Amino acid sequence: MTQPARKRLYIQEVSTRDGFQIEPRFIPTAQKVGLIDALSQMGLAKIEVTSFVSPKAIPALADAAEVMQQIRRVPGVEFSALVANVRGCERALAARVDEINIVMSASQTHNRANLRMTCEQSLGVIRQIVPIARGQTAVNASISTAFGCPFEGDIPAARVMELVDQLAALGIERLALCDTTGMANPVQVRRVCAAVVAGWPELTFTAHFHNTRAMGLANAVAALEAGVDHFDASLGGLGGCPFAPGATGNVCTEDLVHMFEMMGYNTAVDLDALIGIALTLPALVGHDVPGQVMKAGRSSRRYPAPDGTESPAASLHRRCD
Ligand code: COA
Ligand code: ZN
Repeated sequence: MTQPARKRLYIQEVSTRDGFQIEPRFIPTAQKVGLIDALSQMGLAKIEVTSFVSPKAIPALADAAEVMQQIRRVPGVEFSALVANVRGCERALAARVDEINIVMSASQTHNRANLRMTCEQSLGVIRQIVPIARGQTAVNASISTAFGCPFEGDIPAARVMELVDQLAALGIERLALCDTTGMANPVQVRRVCAAVVAGWPELTFTAHFHNTRAMGLANAVAALEAGVDHFDASLGGLGGCPFAPGATGNVCTEDLVHMFEMMGYNTAVDLDALIGIALTLPALVGHDVPGQVMKAGRSSRRYPAPDGTESPAASLHRRCD
């Protein structure tokens, strides 16, 4: 009997942007390129390569143009870059990105801290960028602090809906709801995601969670159950916004893929190979990383029994290999 097709989920890697932007040590360009080239072989739908922002704001990504120029473009993988203003958009277009990811916050205070603009000014930037990018590249808008702001606290669902409405009116077709400092909980995520998916069925929504309060994977499941099928995640669980106090890593890509695959979904990602790449990260960044499956192994991992005998399942597993 043929198995029913497993539902496809799209995994979007952000470690070389969200991850590296907060690393205290500059990762040399060649090592960034090597990591991206390895990641492009993994079955990931999209890689957020870098950001074209002020090098004073984010010195870690000052080599954005060089990185974009040196990576190998793999068909089927989208290579995206974050921007915050029109200058960044023009630099990203010159670098032939497949997607511009324009960022703004749901909260005024984080928008000012991160981008030195009001939310209205950021909307003005997006109004300018959409026609410039049209016909050349896709545009995604990422709404930071969509589930809570480290300065202002709760963000009402109505505020997120208002922004989605404004962004859709500006011609945005792809939208990421970002939990910048891990303040979201699964009940809230289910409610907000279900509302935007039902309200704007023609848009593609991405869930972007940080695991700052250990709710990242629970929130991903809540978003999935609410109808979201695109997920941002970061290898090893690197990540964080340098202008959001207390920010820590994104949900970890290999942990997210492991969970979704165990739940019966098709991520198209080569999990074993991805874990292999994750294991090289501590040497690259110079510290331990939060990823868990890279340390524990897949849940199918088996150990020899303490008395040296093999469990029936283990011997069966071995015979089948
Ligand atoms: N690319 C390169 N340089 C840029 C730039 C861009 N997209 N935008 C501005 N700059 C440079 C300017 O030339 C100027 O340089 P100078 O001081 O040598 O003259 C400097 O950055 C400041 O420019 P200004 O237009 O006055 O910007 P600002 O100080 O008001 O800062 C942003 C606004 C948006 C440029 C800045 O806050 C920024 O890049 N933020 C991004 C933060 C981020 O990436 N956060 C993490 C992701 S969520
Ligand atoms: Zn983030």
